Amino acid sequence: MNAYPLAGLRAVVTGGASGIGHAVARLLDAQGAAVAVLDLDPAGTPDTITALRADVADDTSVREAVAAAAAALGGIDILVNNAGIGAAGTVEDNPDDQWHTVLDVNLLGVVRTTRAALPHLRRSEHPAVVNICSIAATAGLPQRALYSASKGAVLSLTLAMAADHVREGIRVNCVNPGTVDTPWVARLLDAAADPEAERAALGARQPTGRLVSADEVAAAVVYLASPAAASVTGTALAVDGGMAGLRLRPAGT
Ligand SMILES: NC(=O)c1ccc[n+]([C@@H]2O[C@H](COP(=O)([O-])OP(=O)(O)OC[C@H]3O[C@@H](n4cnc5c(N)ncnc54)[C@H](O)[C@@H]3O)[C@@H](O)[C@H]2O)c1
Repeated sequence: MNAYPLAGLRAVVTGGASGIGHAVARLLDAQGAAVAVLDLDPAGTPDTITALRADVADDTSVREAVAAAAAALGGIDILVNNAGIGAAGTVEDNPDDQWHTVLDVNLLGVVRTTRAALPHLRRSEHPAVVNICSIAATAGLPQRALYSASKGAVLSLTLAMAADHVREGIRVNCVNPGTVDTPWVARLLDAAADPEAERAALGARQPTGRLVSADEVAAAVVYLASPAAASVTGTALAVDGGMAGLRLRPAGT
């Protein structure tokens, strides 16, 4: 597939060593972009991609890694804010320090990386930011109070940043995946009492009847990041097997 050629563009992907971020980095690379991955553990990044260790919860680490990425790539046109961590529980279950930890990565990680990248994006002819948000921002999911709050904040931040930077020509959008078949979800399934039943329940929650693939999310990210989406800003693109938008009758009725 080469629907959205990106030759000459330079992209940074946080959390790009695993799952969705890894698929995004690989597809950006395949479309001709020069790519840098910023990750807590960037081991396993393909040789064609610049791998940089960074913690999005640490402002100094982010600034140093974004500067190193810009130097290695010769600038930054595309920023994909993907690094994130999960949390399970109702509003009664997570202690304050866990709230601070998750918001520090999922929300402030986006703030820090975008803040560090903006001077470079301003010098680009095709600047774009894509945030990886979640179905948890637009639908109430059980046992996800903290995680949902973090992703709801990312959705609102996406809209606010899109407004702030539209006159500079910088587009900001987000992608809202449903449940995606990544190492993260594999860890959740491994921890379940009955992993097969849990996988079936998560698949059945999506009208398509299966989990989303990381490559399907990457395709949406690459579209939003590409000049083909030059008139698209301030949107949330759901890649969720219909989970957010559809209301089906029970099968056979
Ligand atoms: N998997 C899903 O079902 C799903 C659904 C909706 C949204 N998302 C979102 O997609 C993103 C990626 O999820 P995934 O399933 O690919 O997860 P994953 O755990 O497979 O990969 C996450 C990557 O982020 C890195 N990372 C974590 N904390 C970091 C930090 N502080 N600094 C730098 N890197 C860090 C990890 O090292 C890892 O490489 C997350 O933002 C997640 O909330 C995932």
